[in-house]
Amino acid sequence: MCRARAFMSLLLLGLKLPQAKGNCGFVESEKLCVCSLLEVSEMQKFFECLQATTYELRGGNLEQFAAFYEITPSSYLIDILQVLQVRKLIFTDLIVPEVLLPGALEFASHPLLLSEIEFVNCTFLRTASQHYTGRPTPLRVSSLRFHRVTADSLADRCNDLTSLTRWLETLENLTLTESQVTSIPCKIGQVFTGLLFLDVSGNYFQDESIKSSFCQGAFPELHVLKLHHNRLTSYDAVCETVGPLNMLTHLDLSQNDFPPGFSSSSQCTWPQSLHVFNLSSTGLEHVEWSLPPNLETLDLSANSIFTLDLSLPTLKKLYLSNNRLQAVPSLKNLPRLEVLSVDQNHISHLPSRSLLQLKHLQILKAGHNLYNCSCPYTRELQDLASKLSLLANWPHDYTCQYPSHSQDSLVKDTSSSMLQCSQALVTHASVVILLSSLHLVLCLFLV
Ligand SMILES: *[C@@H]1O[C@H](CO)[C@@H](O)[C@H](O)[C@H]1NC(C)=O
Ligand SMILES: *[C@@H]1O[C@H](CO)[C@@H](O)[C@H](O)[C@H]1NC(C)=O
Ligand SMILES: *[C@@H]1O[C@H](CO)[C@@H](O)[C@H](O)[C@H]1NC(C)=O
Ligand SMILES: *[C@@H]1O[C@H](CO)[C@@H](O)[C@H](O)[C@H]1NC(C)=O
Repeated sequence: MCRARAFMSLLLLGLKLPQAKGNCGFVESEKLCVCSLLEVSEMQKFFECLQATTYELRGGNLEQFAAFYEITPSSYLIDILQVLQVRKLIFTDLIVPEVLLPGALEFASHPLLLSEIEFVNCTFLRTASQHYTGRPTPLRVSSLRFHRVTADSLADRCNDLTSLTRWLETLENLTLTESQVTSIPCKIGQVFTGLLFLDVSGNYFQDESIKSSFCQGAFPELHVLKLHHNRLTSYDAVCETVGPLNMLTHLDLSQNDFPPGFSSSSQCTWPQSLHVFNLSSTGLEHVEWSLPPNLETLDLSANSIFTLDLSLPTLKKLYLSNNRLQAVPSLKNLPRLEVLSVDQNHISHLPSRSLLQLKHLQILKAGHNLYNCSCPYTRELQDLASKLSLLANWPHDYTCQYPSHSQDSLVKDTSSSMLQCSQALVTHASVVILLSSLHLVLCLFLV
């Protein structure tokens, strides 16, 4: 029971709390130990939990422990934790007094294997005076995730956070999703000097608040920025915001309401370092402005694009699924393409010759289009399917739209067209013969 209590204490932010009672269960496949403060019963699975690498505390209110925020973990507890291979702590469905956080972070800074802390569906309670007197040691946790959390606005919190500066400046990975965040105060962004990955998807960021959040000196090392599903409406604003982030390689703007044209009035340039650009579900109809020049992955899926002409010499993956394209866009300026998806468009045939000229092409996804199964298109597609073994979901997703008698049948099964094709070829051949004989006759006459 003594061990069991120490174990629960681990989950209570490492403080040796006399009140800690609860129940734990082990999920072997995930090496996950889930403990709850709500159900107090026998700890049958407790010993199995010693194998876990992820520990989750689910459900309850930690307010009762707020008074213990300055208790430091005993060396005995730290010894136990070193034996347990804890890599990740998850706190789910909890009410957490913020006063416990610095202690929790300091606890996590002890030389453990712990590298990730996650709060899911938690409510943080701000307490009036939070003067943590502990000695800040560098943070070893590299990843901090908050998902669906509720807390007071960050706006006037700079002082609260200064006590955490020593920990936050070494953090590499921060996720703060679906938590109704409208902005990050400039001063807080400037604390994250080592941050590589920032995901603030599913919040309420707008054009103005994004500019102020990414003020000069904020997030200087950022490589990945996800702004998926916010309230952004201007490419200019985003471009001016991320322009100075000269290490940025991945930008996700998907599911924002941008204007239909990817265009710009200003002379803003996107970071040259940008390799992955996600503009999926942004309401795009056309792209008329130059894209970042060194892109390797471009996602334009789920838009209303009907025409496209790209020139991106380094592009490897192009996603155009679910648009309004009537033809595959020109591929001649995309020499390094490896993956192309044009499924769920209005395409009537595939340009087999230019597709076969793409030397690096590995996957072509082109199902659910409006294929014209009259000659010679069917032959072209069947040909392509045989040469390009990586035509994704062939033959099931490839059905005919025209002519009406083969509507909804598989392109693969429209073999009658072979006959039509050969007839067409014959006709074609006779015309050629006729013309050349005419030419011959004329020549004879002229001589
Ligand atoms: C979130 O937590 C509250 C209590 O804190 C709980 O009532 C609710 O069911 C949780 N929601 C989800 C989606 O888990
Ligand atoms: C950061 O965390 C997210 C989700 O927790 C993960 O998908 C991503 O790979 C991590 N990135 C880095 C650079 O550690
Ligand atoms: C782009 O974002 C969407 C979500 O909006 C996601 O489903 C898709 O996988 C992302 N594309 C890439 C290439 O990461
Ligand atoms: C289908 O292709 C044939 C042969 O090229 C052409 O005559 C016909 O107009 C096309 N039908 C449609 C609806 O595009």
